[in-house]
Amino acid sequence: MTENNIDGQNNNLRVPNHIAIIMDGNGRWAKRSGQPRIAGHKEGMNNVKRIAIAASDLGVKVLSLYAFSTENWKRPSAEVSFLMKLPVDFFGVFMPDLIKENIRVVITGFKDNLPDKTRKVVDKAIADTKDNTGMVLNFAFNYGGRAEIVNATKIIARKAIAKELDPEDIDEKVFSDALFTHVLGEYSDPDLLIRTSGEERISNFLLWQMAYTEMVFDSAYWPDFTSDNLVNDIKIFNDRDRRFGTV
Ligand code: FPP
Repeated sequence: MTENNIDGQNNNLRVPNHIAIIMDGNGRWAKRSGQPRIAGHKEGMNNVKRIAIAASDLGVKVLSLYAFSTENWKRPSAEVSFLMKLPVDFFGVFMPDLIKENIRVVITGFKDNLPDKTRKVVDKAIADTKDNTGMVLNFAFNYGGRAEIVNATKIIARKAIAKELDPEDIDEKVFSDALFTHVLGEYSDPDLLIRTSGEERISNFLLWQMAYTEMVFDSAYWPDFTSDNLVNDIKIFNDRDRRFGTV
């Protein structure tokens, strides 16, 4: 954990290495002001930039954002198309800011099933930031926890059949290495999960990785979630007593 002191206000704030966020409430944010749901996603996208920079400035090592789940394909097709276009807009507009902040972009999820244009733009963002050494901004895009576990099982089973791996040697490390989050290295498991909009569930996000994650449910809709909300949720996390199964 990083000790941080922002503008002298947050003395001794212990900043978690890996924060994961379920960015919920875009639709309700839009509805509240009589706008279509996609207006909420657009403002949600703008907030990704604000919160990524705030997290980076706080010293967070990995920020994982649940941007599109494997279940989100069931939404109306116009909304799905809009969500698939968001990375194009986001990286098109904000790449200079990410580079300036030394942020490295990674994507966890089933990239192969994405529309060509979306896949190309995320591949470019990954390539353009690959040498950055600051915070890792992990977009969980076309991601589902159960599907990820099934996928890892297939990877391991294929290795066993090819005799590259003895089934007796399968342990938690081997399993973790077969998950999408292996790209996050030592920070693959979130320390803190924040879900916005007041909903209190994990919705198939990072199921394996969240075995010991502290969870904070923030009532703000994602487009309204500010750096102050982030700091406040980290303070709540700081008051938790993490025992990892010990006493
Ligand atoms: C959940 O809110 C939000 C989503 C399914 C999409 C989240 C995506 C973003 C915030 C933008 C991502 C940005 C990039 C660059 C990929 P909801 O629609 O379920 O809200 P509701 O529960 O109020 O209806």
